[in-house]
Amino acid sequence: MRVVWFITGVVGWALPGSVGAAEPTPAEVFEKRIVPIFKSPNPSSCVQCHLAGVDLKDYILPDAEKTFRSLRDQGLIDLDAPEKTKIVKLIDMGGNANGPNAVNAKLRVAERDAFVAWIKACAADPKLKDAPKLDEKDRAQPARPVEVIRHARKDQVLESFERNVWAWRFRCMNCHTEVTPQNDKYRKEYGDRVAWVKKGGPADTLEYLIASKLLDPAKPEQSLLLRKPLGEKHEGGTKFVVGDDAYKGFRTWIEDVAAIRADKYAAVADLPPADTGPQRFGTDLWLKLTACPPEWGDKFLQARVFAWDAKRKAWDETPVAVSDRVVSGKANLWQHSLTLLTSKDSERAKAWRTGKPSLPDGKYLLRVYVDGNGKLAKDWQAVLGEADLAGQVEFQAKWREGYNAMTAVDASKVRK
Ligand code: HEC
Ligand code: HEC
Repeated sequence: MRVVWFITGVVGWALPGSVGAAEPTPAEVFEKRIVPIFKSPNPSSCVQCHLAGVDLKDYILPDAEKTFRSLRDQGLIDLDAPEKTKIVKLIDMGGNANGPNAVNAKLRVAERDAFVAWIKACAADPKLKDAPKLDEKDRAQPARPVEVIRHARKDQVLESFERNVWAWRFRCMNCHTEVTPQNDKYRKEYGDRVAWVKKGGPADTLEYLIASKLLDPAKPEQSLLLRKPLGEKHEGGTKFVVGDDAYKGFRTWIEDVAAIRADKYAAVADLPPADTGPQRFGTDLWLKLTACPPEWGDKFLQARVFAWDAKRKAWDETPVAVSDRVVSGKANLWQHSLTLLTSKDSERAKAWRTGKPSLPDGKYLLRVYVDGNGKLAKDWQAVLGEADLAGQVEFQAKWREGYNAMTAVDASKVRK
């Protein structure tokens, strides 16, 4: 019914003055095409990129004429070029999405057609053009400030995901990575749910996770994505301890997503502090500390690796790699994969983003921090500092990938 009616409308506009049914008035087009968008209980196509903060509905008022004036006065409608109008451009931002966004693409086309049809009808009505300005307080616009809209954009959430979650994925590999022999084996036994690290990379993994049951939006700290690696009924065993770097990253991201989705950020002051720290890149480079002193046994140990700056003839001030884990007291051994760090806009960051993150062979400084009295367990946001420094040692590294090619350091040489 709606489709037939719409086609008549298009013909009417394309051939002005042609015979046929009277053209629908702007109010009629509004009623038929815009009101259903306004009343729909489902999010608009904007949700493809805006997880919260803005929706097409935010620009619509129950009244046709007021909606027109509201959009016109905000510069969102151009009567001379309805298709190039800003509100249509916002709808068009989704582009020609295929694949996982195909459903959204259909919705977007419907929204776009509806707005173009309505704006064209408005353009044909001289009364509307000259309608008085709408009071600013009556305008329809998103309730959230632009900073909140930006924070809730999916590309921003993805950036945070890469830094906070994706960077630590090597702790979960390959058990959870799609299309690896190990994952295929687990999949046969436990089903598709174990394949939550998607072969397409971080964006696909993020799409999967935010739609999955692994995140608990009401109690983010209780999310399975945190509880399983803490060792709670987890076939993969204990991969996190409360307060380690990966836990901090996962939890920070999970809490943020939960707050975004619950629309909890109302004002700029509600947003979490900007992450000014380095970019993190997960690797399959391993560091091993042998002959650990007994007093480190079963304690949480953080390793920070510093590179030599030949120009300054000094160690770098910030670490180039980190890793943390509990020391095996039985074996006096600590070993784990490294996460590399570099500032966001460095040449290294560019290279590591597109290629494989790696480090040159050579001399490095290892600083060892030990959580002697369970500081992190009490406060997951606590950071080990100079008081926790167990000592340092210089070592030669020949970085090679893989569990069987670890760089070993004799921990008995660690000195304050
Ligand atoms: C394909 C992804 C995508 C879709 C779909 C999308 N947006 Fe956006 N939106 C963005 C990006 C990216 C920006 C930032 C653009 C920029 O800064 O130039 C943005 C910016 C905005 C802003 C400006 C906020 C600011 O930073 O100043 C508003 C308002 C907005 N979008 C509304 C909408 C509405 C309404 C819809 C749905 C009708 C929509 N967007 C659909 C990606 C999208
Ligand atoms: C040695 C293999 C292995 C490693 C490493 C591993 N896991 Fe698992 N994990 C499993 C298996 C097998 C299952 C399915 C059985 C179960 O629920 O324990 C599972 C289940 C899960 C589930 C539940 C999935 C669902 O949809 O029910 C989550 C979440 C999870 N793991 C998170 C992690 C995280 C996060 C890491 C890394 C920090 C990790 N795992 C590391 C083997 C592993």
